[in-house]
Amino acid sequence: MATNRTFTMIKPDAFAEGNSGAILKMIEEAGFKIVAMKATQLTKEIAGKFYEVHSARPFYADLCAYMSSGPIIAAILEKENAVEDFRKLIGATNPADAADGTIRKIFAKSIEANAVHGSDSDENAAIEGAFYFSMTERVG
Ligand code: CMP
Repeated sequence: MATNRTFTMIKPDAFAEGNSGAILKMIEEAGFKIVAMKATQLTKEIAGKFYEVHSARPFYADLCAYMSSGPIIAAILEKENAVEDFRKLIGATNPADAADGTIRKIFAKSIEANAVHGSDSDENAAIEGAFYFSMTERVG
């Protein structure tokens, strides 16, 4: 059954270019409520743990270096059908394939510097949210 929460990160490229506000505006205007949010900077080790599922992929080392290269914003978002609706809002992983009007189409630079992360399942949304936020850091 679909849950009503997903997890996102505004990645270093989007944060550094001052696009966090515009991206959060798009997220809120699409009907998502921010349940928890913080700005932080990952170490390579913590980025590696977050993306451990990709550790066998050829892009893993670059991804960990990139994700620890500057500040990010991590957030838990709430909306009915959150995971699926958020993935529609952000568009395809590779911005070259992303639909017009999606966050990645507008803000992403490349498949690696692709502006935002969005959980790919309800199970991962719960795991990823818990990775960043303790119970006392959430609204609900
Ligand atoms: P994200 O949704 O955060 O999940 C894994 C990330 O790996 C993905 O977004 C991309 O930014 C990054 N990545 C880099 N190269 C690739 C690739 N060739 N295929 C898929 N993801 C990639």
